[in-house]
Amino acid sequence: MNLINHPKRYLLDISVAVVLVSMLSFGSVFIYHLNNDARDLQFNSALAMRGQQLSTELGCVACHTVDGSAGVGPTWVNMWGKTELLNRERTTVVTEDYFRESLQEPASKVVMGYPNVMSRYFLNEAEIGALIEYVKQLSPQTAGAASQ
Ligand code: HEC
Repeated sequence: MNLINHPKRYLLDISVAVVLVSMLSFGSVFIYHLNNDARDLQFNSALAMRGQQLSTELGCVACHTVDGSAGVGPTWVNMWGKTELLNRERTTVVTEDYFRESLQEPASKVVMGYPNVMSRYFLNEAEIGALIEYVKQLSPQTAGAASQ
């Protein structure tokens, strides 16, 4: 059977077109939702707003939520100053040192119950500062407890 010149060939063309168009539109809707879901909270601090923007640009949003729900990684709500249970029966308080370490050496302290899948980020001081301010703003209940 010659499919290329088959009289019903147009049916195949139409089906392929329908599949491609739906992939394109569902794909766009999906990406739109991801972006929309990505951050649009309002803060008085310009630094925190910059941190929020960075968390989207750098892709932290893919794994860390800001609505309190667990994602691939721990939520950022009330993360600052929190005592985190780590694997191997250790704990740590989320301070500036730990935040930096989590970016540069995520594997050195892995939060209990989460996979060691975060990659290393080498960010400049301005970026780290903005992300820290953002996470602090997301931590109204715990930020006061942190010493730094
Ligand atoms: C691929 C998913 C993924 C991405 C992207 C990601 N992380 Fe993570 N992150 C994790 C996971 C999983 C953990 C918990 C395991 C661990 O401690 O490594 C974590 C832990 C952390 C912690 C320690 C959290 C705590 O509660 O103790 C910080 C801070 C952090 N991430 C910051 C960031 C920042 C900032 C970015 C973006 C620059 C980012 N992460 C991007 C998956 C991710």
